[in-house]
Amino acid sequence: MKYYSSHKHPSVFLIWVVFLSPLVCCQLNYNFYDATCPNLTRIVRYNVWSAMANDTRIAASLLRLHFHDCFVIGCDGSLLLDDTSTFKGEKNALPNKNSARGFEVIDTIKSALEKACPSTVSCADIITLAAREAVYLSGGPFWYVPLGRRDATTASESEANQLPSPFEPLDNITAKFISKGLEMKDVAVLSGAHTFGFAQCFTFKPRLFNFGGSGTPDPTLDAELLKNLQKLCPNQDDSDTNLAPLDSVTTNRFDNMYYRNLVNNSGLLQSDQALLGDNRTASLVVNYSKYPLLFFKDFSASMEKLGKIGVLTGQQGEIRKNCRVVNWQPAG
Ligand code: HEM
Ligand SMILES: *[C@@H]1O[C@H](CO)[C@@H](O)[C@H](O)[C@H]1NC(C)=O
Ligand SMILES: *[C@@H]1O[C@H](CO)[C@@H](O)[C@H](O)[C@H]1NC(C)=O
Ligand SMILES: *[C@@H]1O[C@H](CO)[C@@H](O)[C@H](O)[C@H]1NC(C)=O
Ligand SMILES: *[C@@H]1O[C@H](CO)[C@@H](O)[C@H](O)[C@H]1NC(C)=O
Ligand SMILES: *[C@@H]1O[C@H](CO)[C@@H](O)[C@H](O)[C@H]1NC(C)=O
Ligand SMILES: *[C@@H]1O[C@H](CO)[C@@H](O)[C@H](O)[C@H]1NC(C)=O
Repeated sequence: MKYYSSHKHPSVFLIWVVFLSPLVCCQLNYNFYDATCPNLTRIVRYNVWSAMANDTRIAASLLRLHFHDCFVIGCDGSLLLDDTSTFKGEKNALPNKNSARGFEVIDTIKSALEKACPSTVSCADIITLAAREAVYLSGGPFWYVPLGRRDATTASESEANQLPSPFEPLDNITAKFISKGLEMKDVAVLSGAHTFGFAQCFTFKPRLFNFGGSGTPDPTLDAELLKNLQKLCPNQDDSDTNLAPLDSVTTNRFDNMYYRNLVNNSGLLQSDQALLGDNRTASLVVNYSKYPLLFFKDFSASMEKLGKIGVLTGQQGEIRKNCRVVNWQPAG
């Protein structure tokens, strides 16, 4: 009975309010919208499913949106803000321009949610959930998503220009992941997202014709795949925006074929194949190529880490009403 009465002591209560409640209030949690938007998952899943029925590639595009959101400032919906005459967003940064897609799907989900539970669900949480549904509905793993992210009122084009490039060495890409609180293992695991979706020819063309200025193709590219890619991406500028599947075997499925391709020298991007060429990541690649469920388990864990980068919680940021604009902007 003694410790019951001590809980009622006003000074103990004060300590609880001051020190504990911020910890409770401002972390992501799995039940964040249970009371305020019980149909959230259903609404996101239905809309992702219906977008995929119209365009199978959209699943990959939605997953990539989440990555590009989280790696710039944090998972805060900053990527979704449109440029205006007084505001520069991230959509025109080089890694996003004519490349990032799926914004209309996020808009559709947002308007459905504004009907079901107005001004409640953040755009940052919508992208995170849409990415999970996209993977799950493509045959990949399911994982629970902690929620409660809030939306940024700012964005950074310059930081978006620092997103990993397929022409960077693995060490540089790893350094970027580490600067976000991730590890080299997460580079190898999350790159498994390239098991679906497409890339424009210019993102790997040097491998086909003039690898590292050698005048010859990348020797670590399978001869059969090389021939096909050279047909799809002829050595002239007007082929730069042609599309090639990141995984030419099971193009729209989320599976471990990415790693099976890598062990066959059939990775598409230089940064993909590099994971087999480095002895710090090669054994992981080989393991994932053999054990799809090990990949699924590790991918789920890395996605949860990715989804926690730089999040706004509690009273930070806002809940945008329209994912493309902040709720309030000063005039002028
Ligand atoms: C590790 C460093 C990474 C590099 C260098 C990289 C690079 C690229 C490039 C160049 C493309 C093609 C874009 C285009 O041609 O328009 C692409 C597509 C894609 N990336 Fe990555 N990426 C990386 C990591 C990731 C991560 C961590 C994810 C998600 C977890 C991801 C998901 C995707 C998906 C799904 C696509 C296909 C998108 C579509 O078809 O619309 N990537 N990536
Ligand atoms: C959730 O969706 C179901 C099916 O569409 C609907 O019947 C129900 O009223 C919704 N619940 C809430 C709280 O919006
Ligand atoms: C269907 O997909 C195409 C190609 O991505 C897109 O342009 C179009 O807006 C989509 N239609 C609907 C109804 O979502
Ligand atoms: C890789 O990082 C190093 C050190 O930061 C830098 O000097 C180099 O230019 C980077 N390489 C590429 C291709 O980005
Ligand atoms: C990759 O390996 C599998 C199994 O060993 C084989 O069936 C397939 O033809 C290989 N693909 C390429 C492009 O070499
Ligand atoms: C990994 O490769 C580096 C350089 O390529 C080499 O120095 C090192 O000994 C290798 N480590 C292992 C464990 O094979
Ligand atoms: C890959 O699997 C082998 C054999 O099970 C194991 O010894 C090794 O530690 C694994 N490598 C990694 C990086 O997990």
